[in-house]
Amino acid sequence: MAVLINENYLKLKSNYLFAEIAKRVANFQNEHPKAKLIRMGIGDVTRPLAPAIIEGFHDGVAHMGKVNTFKGYGPDQGYSFLIQAIIRQDYTTRGVTLEEDEIFISDGAKSDTANIQEIFGLENIVAVTDPVYPVYVDSNVMAGRTDSMGEDGRYSGLVYLPCTQENGFVPELPKVPVDLIYLCLPNNPTGTALTKEQLKQWVDYAKENNSLILFDSAYEAFIREDNIPHSIYEIDGAKEVAIEFRSFSKTAGFTGTRCAYTVVPKELKAFDTNGTVHSVNSLWARRQATKFNGVSYPVQMAAASVFSPEGQRQIRETIDYYMVNAATIRDNLIKFGLDVFGGVNAPYIWIKTPNNMGSWEFFDLLLHQANVVGTPGAGFGPSGEGYLRLTAFNTLENTKEAMERIAQLSL
Ligand code: MLT
Repeated sequence: MAVLINENYLKLKSNYLFAEIAKRVANFQNEHPKAKLIRMGIGDVTRPLAPAIIEGFHDGVAHMGKVNTFKGYGPDQGYSFLIQAIIRQDYTTRGVTLEEDEIFISDGAKSDTANIQEIFGLENIVAVTDPVYPVYVDSNVMAGRTDSMGEDGRYSGLVYLPCTQENGFVPELPKVPVDLIYLCLPNNPTGTALTKEQLKQWVDYAKENNSLILFDSAYEAFIREDNIPHSIYEIDGAKEVAIEFRSFSKTAGFTGTRCAYTVVPKELKAFDTNGTVHSVNSLWARRQATKFNGVSYPVQMAAASVFSPEGQRQIRETIDYYMVNAATIRDNLIKFGLDVFGGVNAPYIWIKTPNNMGSWEFFDLLLHQANVVGTPGAGFGPSGEGYLRLTAFNTLENTKEAMERIAQLSL
């Protein structure tokens, strides 16, 4: 007997999008060791952790070194001090009531959005926007909810909701019944945000069709305009139809520190094949208790410090800094005559490639001629072809320099 693999993995593109880009960029850097690259590809932050957060981190580490305050395994769902701070600051202030056992602290929205599908049946029809954060698609491919990728770059078995310039990058409601719907708002990669009225249509759809929305709001802290909901639970009734994913990664610079949380309201119900109703919250709690042992205590202490008054002020300064970068990118590219979207309520700028260039072609042009790294839109799905994404997460100096270099290109 030989060991057999999970053949669903063979359906995937060989490399995860950001791994593929990293490989291409490393090859380029090897061939051009003197090139000073400016990385505006993967959405990785560059500003250090804020002083208030470092203080919380230090306190956590100090506690681990003393017998009276030492911590072993933490509570499955996360420490109460962090969960309470989240409820108070992120939800009560927006008129949303949540109980402690509806919040699950984790190491990232990437892992939670990838893992959540495993508590749902393989028969469910899954809808994703196109373009889309690749994790939602790949994790469903791995689980076996799709066939191989077709020539059109789509996996059969998934319902794609195109987000194009024509519809303002706002997905239309599915025309066929779907069970699970991934929505990321403000959107990665297009930077689009939905108003309360627009998001309400999705909540209403989910209620009417017994669907469940997997709402990734990792970028809510970048919202600048009024009437854009920060949480899907600001819409009445959403607790019956939505799971919400939040992250400290972009909000507070935790991409290398790792902390996030997922809200699974107790109102959420799903069914077995006999029609018996089950609590989604209990299923996720069961899954996490078996497969996850929590986030380290010092990291949860650091995350809790985000919610202190100084922490809030300091992270807002950093987010403001990135949004100056976003405006710098937008304004310059518009000045260069490019069609530019996003960057107003999100740290991502979605650019129409000039002269109908392919996404990867434009990626290569920027890499070779400006030494600027972006992310080809096609990597986010077939409707991303003809676009490229830049992030606002580099330093202001590098962002300005990138714009100067792009200005020299004849686009
Ligand atoms: C991105 O660049 O899309 C994000 O950084 C990916 C992530 O958060 O995992």
